[in-house]
Amino acid sequence: MNTHEKYIKRCIELAQNGFGTTYPNPMVGSVIVHDGKIIGEGWHKKAGEPHAEVNAVQSVKDKSLLKKATIYVSLEPCSHFGKTPPCCDLIIANQIPNVVVGTVDPNEKVAGRGIKKLIENGANVTVGILEDECNELNKRFFTFHQKKRPYIILKWAESQDGFLAPEKSINQERKPVWITNQYSRQLVHKWRSEEQAILVGTQTVVDDNPKLNTRDWSGNNPVRVVLDQNNRISKDSFIFDDSVKTIVFSKSENSNATENTIFEKIDFNKNTIPQILYVLYQHQIQSIIIEGGRQTLQSFVDSDLWDEARIFTGTNAFENGVKAPLIQKKNIFKTTIQNDELLYIRNND
Ligand SMILES: NC(=O)c1ccc[n+]([C@@H]2O[C@H](COP(=O)([O-])OP(=O)(O)OC[C@H]3O[C@@H](n4cnc5c(N)ncnc54)[C@H](OP(=O)(O)O)[C@@H]3O)[C@@H](O)[C@H]2O)c1
Repeated sequence: MNTHEKYIKRCIELAQNGFGTTYPNPMVGSVIVHDGKIIGEGWHKKAGEPHAEVNAVQSVKDKSLLKKATIYVSLEPCSHFGKTPPCCDLIIANQIPNVVVGTVDPNEKVAGRGIKKLIENGANVTVGILEDECNELNKRFFTFHQKKRPYIILKWAESQDGFLAPEKSINQERKPVWITNQYSRQLVHKWRSEEQAILVGTQTVVDDNPKLNTRDWSGNNPVRVVLDQNNRISKDSFIFDDSVKTIVFSKSENSNATENTIFEKIDFNKNTIPQILYVLYQHQIQSIIIEGGRQTLQSFVDSDLWDEARIFTGTNAFENGVKAPLIQKKNIFKTTIQNDELLYIRNND
């Protein structure tokens, strides 16, 4: 690892402190180096608050050193006025001569303009250090801006014999049948807190009445998204309790909308997945976890509109019921959570 890579790696570490709190902004870290020593560090904590470069510059005790320093930043410094002034102007005003950038910002408002402005003002700019790692850090932000859709994570739990749920008898209680252990379930709540939205199909709400929140983990509740083309979901379901912002995809206008419960009309005669993703993009949702059931998950797989899958296999067997989705099992990573097996799959382009 060369010197530039060492400091960009530190930028990435710093940026990760903002995981889950920077939406709609990306996670960014910055390090300022003078004479082989780090003299300042910072990261972006929250949208509306100072960017990483501002925090790094502020942390430098002897500001006179800035004129001989190198600023490292995991993502291209911004060149536009958003909620805060452009970071390029700060670098230029402090006459920092060297700028090393991990990766270019895909946001149309920046997209190379920051780098151009710095060069025009005499800075020595190096771009593309640990680029893959910097892109991975902000995979949600990059997918949102480049593909104009949220980053999509499919998640389900299946039994030893490949079922999502046992057969339901009509009189069965309206709640899920657990396949995984309590630690896996807690991990799923952590994952929910890391994404901006969570989606399930109509039948899952009808059968299980899920809350879709993060009650077993501290962190934000994601926006709940449900499909309900024929208004089959009863109004006493948890998803209609107005406790969390909820988007319901339906084929007709609905008079039950409230401040927190929004109905979005789409054409169910056409492929619904691209339409759903387009509406979510318009709602500025950068990431979503799809938690079932089979038909819903399979629609995303068959449309090839997914980025990763996280699949638990529990220890029980159902013999029959709702079959698990079919998915290609390449680019996999396997681990265990006590007796549960957890498989990660990446849908690489
Ligand atoms: N083990 C797990 O991880 C897990 C997770 C979630 C759910 N589950 C289980 O899975 C079972 C439900 O699975 P499921 O496959 O029967 O149902 P589902 O996927 O939850 O819901 C299917 C229904 O959702 C609507 N829908 C799904 N995909 C759609 C699409 N692309 N476009 C438009 N509408 C779409 C349709 O409703 P309409 O027919 O009204 O149009 C469809 O009948 C439940 O028993 C639940 O317990 C297990």
